[in-house]
Amino acid sequence: MAAITMKNIVKKYGDGFPAVNDISLDIADGEFMILVGPSGCGKSTLLRMIVGLEDITSGEMLIGGDRVNEKAPRDRNLAMVFQNYALYPHLTVFENIAFPLRLHKAPDTEVKERVNQAAELLELTEHLDRKPANLSGGQRQRVAMGRAIVREAQAFLFDEPLSNLDAKLRGQMRTEISRLQKQLGITTVYVTHDQVEAMTLGDRVAVLRKGILQQVASPRTLYQEPVNLFVAGFIGSPPMNFIPATVGDGELSTPFGPMHLPESRSVDLSEHEVVLIGARPESFEDAAVVSDTIRDHGVTFDVHVDVIEWLGNEQYAYVPYEAPEDIRVQLAELERELDSEALRTQLVVSLDATSRMAEGSNAPLWLDLRKVHIFDPSTGANLTAQTDEPADVSEPA
Ligand SMILES: Nc1ncnc2c1ncn2[C@@H]1O[C@H](COP(=O)(O)OP(=O)(O)O)[C@@H](O)[C@H]1O
Ligand SMILES: [Mg+2]
Repeated sequence: MAAITMKNIVKKYGDGFPAVNDISLDIADGEFMILVGPSGCGKSTLLRMIVGLEDITSGEMLIGGDRVNEKAPRDRNLAMVFQNYALYPHLTVFENIAFPLRLHKAPDTEVKERVNQAAELLELTEHLDRKPANLSGGQRQRVAMGRAIVREAQAFLFDEPLSNLDAKLRGQMRTEISRLQKQLGITTVYVTHDQVEAMTLGDRVAVLRKGILQQVASPRTLYQEPVNLFVAGFIGSPPMNFIPATVGDGELSTPFGPMHLPESRSVDLSEHEVVLIGARPESFEDAAVVSDTIRDHGVTFDVHVDVIEWLGNEQYAYVPYEAPEDIRVQLAELERELDSEALRTQLVVSLDATSRMAEGSNAPLWLDLRKVHIFDPSTGANLTAQTDEPADVSEPA
């Protein structure tokens, strides 16, 4: 096991375009690190540079404190677990796990001992004589991990291992990988474009956009204190709402009327004419069911409710609104780039299951202003982010 350290890593392919652009990242020994971002942001390239399948254009890659830039993949002793698990169909589970030991011509007794040990850990003992084709997806995944375990690899590297499984199996495998990683305590780097996987698996998540590292933080901090519009829009489903606001005398004027930011969220807006107010779906509530004790922390405004989606334990309301043309264009661009659900000029808000707000009606909606973020639309920066000390947003709405 080992720590992985990246210092100013750059990768330029033939055409000179930086697929990975000046990334510095410290992955601790035993840590589960997720690399997440939309397709094409450089995740696989970065992972392949860790393993040694791709040359590093500039910067330094350290594994266990040793520079590995010039080392061949086999000398880095890392285990890459691919999407298809790369199992040999004609070999038994035993021989699949034993494969790296056979390559190194390990003596039979050692092979037996180490494969049996790994199989026990992975609950594969009774399947050792079977062929991969007769195993479930979860068992195949474990065989692939078994192969990495007998090699005593320094780290596990995964590149979207679950992306071609159906939703249910993906959920099971996610739990499996997470459980095994904790049990084994092996440094793990896991690439995904799926923010749900990113949020549920990792100790920390590194968010990439166009080859540039945006933010590295725990899932909770990413959700509560995203540093910019991109991270805010990428993490969370349904995504954060972005409401355009014009900065006036001590207040923000929005399509829903004026809003006064509370002390805890106030930022210097003197240099800004227009900002985006970011609000998660759960920061809204049907004003009719908001308790009096917290009502004053927010603002209430009338909206037209277009659609209600009732899911039993929760419900979502869709609230369209008018926004200036340039803001619409900007939101549409962000939406395209995030490949996300609509960040259109409509709010998606989560309502308490007891709310009786009706589709097609006008109703008062409440927004908890203690939980909003203020973004600079020109730079995307979150002006309210306090990444050192996450704001306490755990109070019930
Ligand atoms: N072998 C290659 N030659 C040239 N460009 C490449 C090569 N591999 C990837 N790229 C480019 O580098 C960028 C990052 O690709 P990749 O790391 O595969 O992204 P991700 O895994 O995040 O989807 C993309 O723009 C992609 O087109
Ligand atoms: Mg990829």
